[in-house]
Amino acid sequence: MGIFTTFTSLSKFTKLTYIHLILEGPVPTSENPFRPTAGATPPEVIGRSGLLDEFEYGLELGSGAPGLLSIFTGARGIGKTVMLGAAHTVAREHGWAVIAETATGTFMGRIGEKMRRLTQELADNPESRRRITGLSIAGFSITSQLTPERQVDWRELGETLLALLDERGTGLLITVDEIHAADRTELAQLAANVQHFIQDRLPIGLIFAGLPSAVSDLLNEGVATFLRRADKIDLHAAAVRDVEKSYTDTFAAADISIQPELVREAAVATGGYPFLIQLIGYFLWREAEKNNGTLSSDAVGRAIAGGIRRNERVVIEAALAAASAKDREFLHAMSIDDEPSTTADIIHRTGSRPTLVAKYRNRLIDAGLIESTGHGKVDFAIPGLGEYLRKNPDA
Ligand SMILES: Nc1ncnc2c1ncn2[C@@H]1O[C@H](COP(=O)(O)OP(=O)(O)OP(=O)(O)O)[C@@H](O)[C@H]1O
Ligand SMILES: [Mg+2]
Repeated sequence: MGIFTTFTSLSKFTKLTYIHLILEGPVPTSENPFRPTAGATPPEVIGRSGLLDEFEYGLELGSGAPGLLSIFTGARGIGKTVMLGAAHTVAREHGWAVIAETATGTFMGRIGEKMRRLTQELADNPESRRRITGLSIAGFSITSQLTPERQVDWRELGETLLALLDERGTGLLITVDEIHAADRTELAQLAANVQHFIQDRLPIGLIFAGLPSAVSDLLNEGVATFLRRADKIDLHAAAVRDVEKSYTDTFAAADISIQPELVREAAVATGGYPFLIQLIGYFLWREAEKNNGTLSSDAVGRAIAGGIRRNERVVIEAALAAASAKDREFLHAMSIDDEPSTTADIIHRTGSRPTLVAKYRNRLIDAGLIESTGHGKVDFAIPGLGEYLRKNPDA
């Protein structure tokens, strides 16, 4: 009698649930939502509200709106690719077609090929009123640069596609990620064509993303002067209090119990840096899974240490692996400072000639390891890099 009878009288489903609770513990009540992987959509895009407003307004206006031409810049892991993903979603919600490319190899050919397929799809759709001229166009080679004839085809195909989309009251968004790796000739071709489409009042949007130095070079070199009119959106770390709020909400929704001061400690440890937000969140969740949904101070400490270690391995050590001995000497000389370093101090500390220091300064800026903060000063562009170098003098 008693407990056993009560138990046997329960439905099979309830029994299974009870057994599950006894074996597994009650919480978290869902699976780990954190995504510490490049480009992966996080559970909550923190601190980016309003950034796509101008773009969305542009989608409604259709053609020539300033928000339709944008460039996201920021340090590694700051969330550029995630913002491009958010732009794709907004564009699709407005019925726009999206071509998303990464600036490796010959991306113009790949964009051309995708435009050709989209045009074909629209032509197969009886809604279209226009006679399609672009369809005689054969596929684009996606392994070599466009020949002059293919450049003409590319533009004509673009015009055909955009006119078809325009008839339907939508348009085309092209995004190119990692433009720091891009072939300048291809970028110039893309920019020239897009400028031409805009002049023809065709509904085109173009968004680039890349490391700050590459973007400023690109704009200054005159490769694509019309891009200077683009809306340049610099992404920075999120506010720690927004991270704190997001963690609080995410853990509460999964019945994970954690003291407010521990949430705060974890949020502070992220420095608002998106990749660390995901890493530390991910490890907190793992700890909660191991400890029946409760996060003690020790567990939070382990999660923070685990997140920081992973960031060091994935971001910092990978970045340093590509740096030369002389690059590292420069970086170590910088790591002595808690604030941006002056060129004069680096010359003094390394004992190198000013011209050599200037050369390495530029190399490191191009590599995305440091950034100029004005007045001849430089700072680390990757969060945690300075601390890492201080901890590891032989790195
Ligand atoms: N606003 C955000 N809020 C929370 N997490 C974010 C946010 N933006 C990006 N992340 C997370 O940060 C990590 C890095 O994002 P992403 O890959 O977009 O950065 P990136 O700037 O493109 O980096 P890279 O320069 O290496 O290409 C991912 O794990 C992503 O889920
Ligand atoms: Mg990226």
